[in-house]
Amino acid sequence: MNNAEVAKRRAEALPRGLSSSLSFVASAKNATITDIDGRDFIDFAGGIGVMNVGHCHPKVMAAVHEQVDLFSHTCFSVFSYEPYVALAEKMNGHAPGPSPKKTFFVNSGAEAVENAIKVARAATGRKAIVAFENAFHGRTNLAMGLTSKVTPYKRDFGPFTPGIFRIPYAYCYRCPLNLEYPACGVECAELLRAGFENDFQADEVACLIVEPVQGEGGFVVPPPEYHARLKQICEENGILYVADEVQTGFGRTGKLFATEHFGIEPDVMTTAKSLGAGYPIAAITGKAEYMDAPVAGGIGGTYGGNPAACRAGLAVFQIFEEERLADRANEVGGRVRARFEAMKNAHECIGDVRGIGAMMALELVQDRSTKKPAAALAKAYRTKLFQNGLVNVGAGTYDNVIRTLMPLTIEFDVLDRGLDIMEQTLNEVTASS
Ligand SMILES: Cc1ncc(COP(=O)(O)O)c(C=O)c1O
Repeated sequence: MNNAEVAKRRAEALPRGLSSSLSFVASAKNATITDIDGRDFIDFAGGIGVMNVGHCHPKVMAAVHEQVDLFSHTCFSVFSYEPYVALAEKMNGHAPGPSPKKTFFVNSGAEAVENAIKVARAATGRKAIVAFENAFHGRTNLAMGLTSKVTPYKRDFGPFTPGIFRIPYAYCYRCPLNLEYPACGVECAELLRAGFENDFQADEVACLIVEPVQGEGGFVVPPPEYHARLKQICEENGILYVADEVQTGFGRTGKLFATEHFGIEPDVMTTAKSLGAGYPIAAITGKAEYMDAPVAGGIGGTYGGNPAACRAGLAVFQIFEEERLADRANEVGGRVRARFEAMKNAHECIGDVRGIGAMMALELVQDRSTKKPAAALAKAYRTKLFQNGLVNVGAGTYDNVIRTLMPLTIEFDVLDRGLDIMEQTLNEVTASS
């Protein structure tokens, strides 16, 4: 069996709506993936931000092995198990802010978003939600409605949930108000208040849901004051502030949770991806007073908080503590940023280098003055990167961003080789275009 044979079977057996990769994995270790043809790839995607502790970390493997030998499923609400409680305690202890917290688990980021909204609605008795331009919150109906990119995420899938209002995000490279930081005074945060005047009634809004740093939207890092300003406006109007940390959580930005950079305490927070190191689990963590709002039996699900995934999550917390991975994210990110800045000096097509911690990205443009997105170039670059041995993911509402989500445990020589591939491949694609 080789890649070509399985690719042919895949094309016949699977719908075209699934995005396709060019190879099939045989095994993976830390930041290296080996395909079924025996070729090694450097992983700058981490299964889209899931593998912050690296592929097959021995502590995760040991914890999961131990658990599957004991039992695999009882349904937590039918017959409970301690690792679920222990992982909830870890989440409560580490979530930003001093208020007492509670946590429950589901299976995916989108499901966590759905449940955070359920909590916010039950806690406030209000129905409406404010979301952001350029946002991504998942692929279920409510999460799609909160997401702002039509193709491919929403195309042909409507209608979406009513009562969702959208305001621009602090995307400084493409400022919605055409201003410049810091002279702008972060005026974009006031667009929330303007929304109350023009578009939606503040006292009908249950929550605002926001990514502390936008992920799929192109690794958009807002100014340091932005989230505190939004939170303040929420507080003034009885609106809960929901931080979607599905992509930013678990050390990616150089702190365990990205909201810590902004000095705020979310009312409710969603996490997923690297919480489970590849085992499907997502968490809703929030202030206890709000988390207790849904009635008994109102939240839950058959698989949520699967025991093996809970054990993986506990191992992830242990690894973060022992290996100080949030700090390592800053070291990894520093190396990536230095190389990206050098590439920007050599290539006009790089309009912006941005990021925080190891959440670093390049935004490609046709022309630095017009900032017209270079989506075709980004596509060619990404395909060639894969051919040259680098697993990568794109991002951006205009499909022109290359983001890096490598394991935070990546060996520095492997990281540097990956960055060499990024640089050489950009030279190749720009020379031929
Ligand atoms: C910020 C954010 N929220 C939610 C999701 C949805 O997560 P999932 O794909 O696990 O449903 C994602 C996925 O990329 C995300 O980045």
